[in-house]
Amino acid sequence: MNGFEGKVALVTGASRGIGAATARAFGVAGAAVVLVARSADALAAVRAEIEADGGTALVVAADLSRAEDASRMVAAAVETFGRLDAAVNAAAAHGGRPTPLARLDVEEWDRTIAVSLRGVFLSLRAEIAAMVPAGGGAIVNVASTTGLEAVAGLSPYVAAKHGLIGLTKTAALDHAADGVRVNALAPGPTHTEALDRAGEAARERVAAAVPVHRLGTPDEVAAAALWLCGDGASFVTGATLAVDGGLLAGQPPFGRPADA
Ligand SMILES: NC(=O)c1ccc[n+]([C@@H]2O[C@H](COP(=O)([O-])OP(=O)(O)OC[C@H]3O[C@@H](n4cnc5c(N)ncnc54)[C@H](OP(=O)(O)O)[C@@H]3O)[C@@H](O)[C@H]2O)c1
Repeated sequence: MNGFEGKVALVTGASRGIGAATARAFGVAGAAVVLVARSADALAAVRAEIEADGGTALVVAADLSRAEDASRMVAAAVETFGRLDAAVNAAAAHGGRPTPLARLDVEEWDRTIAVSLRGVFLSLRAEIAAMVPAGGGAIVNVASTTGLEAVAGLSPYVAAKHGLIGLTKTAALDHAADGVRVNALAPGPTHTEALDRAGEAARERVAAAVPVHRLGTPDEVAAAALWLCGDGASFVTGATLAVDGGLLAGQPPFGRPADA
């Protein structure tokens, strides 16, 4: 037994990075997995990996800035597998290059908020509506350390992730009595495609600022998401769990690495 046998888990942003790792982990843990993002081809590749490991997965291509797509992904899960037990909302838009707020395009603000905050609201609304009549479920919103501590130049992303933590708390309160738990993860710098593209020098610079002196892996974030969705976290709701190598714990002395 791997903990999620007979359960149905939906993962948004499942086409790459943390979302794809979470989807694979649910598959290994025995859940039927619903894979959601815009890129059908990338989702099909993740489905093939899950099936190769003996799991079951469904691809739903959807643009989560659209309310009808969020409703459709949940309807597809329930039509195909009969229920929805868990959801991990990892889809996000990052905006462009870091830009001081006064020079930021309104369109860039709107694009980031549309997916990273409004899109999670739309996802939560549809997911919770499906879980309540069945007696409950568990949801994880993938926020970020930037949901608790700002980074200069990233105002839309930082605002979306701060908002996402507030949204998580409100959803948890609104639906605690319905048996739906809602929690957030705050990953620190994680070695996904974006940091892969940034090159080794950039990765080393980012890792140096993390107390454990390395980047996180998508599998480490996925493990935390599965724990929050599982029975081991049955008394945990409205919480934000940092998966950040100690980044949010505090500052090194005088801003220098602790062992310098
Ligand atoms: N990587 C990090 O260091 C890090 C750190 C902290 C938090 N996070 C958070 O962790 C989550 C995953 O990040 P990541 O770096 O693994 O992946 P990512 O490169 O940010 O990928 C984002 C995911 O969202 C999907 N997506 C984007 N726009 C969408 C839309 N309009 N509708 C539906 N899906 C959409 C993308 O797929 P398509 O392009 O196919 O739609 C992709 O699967 C994000 O919420 C991110 O903010 C990441």
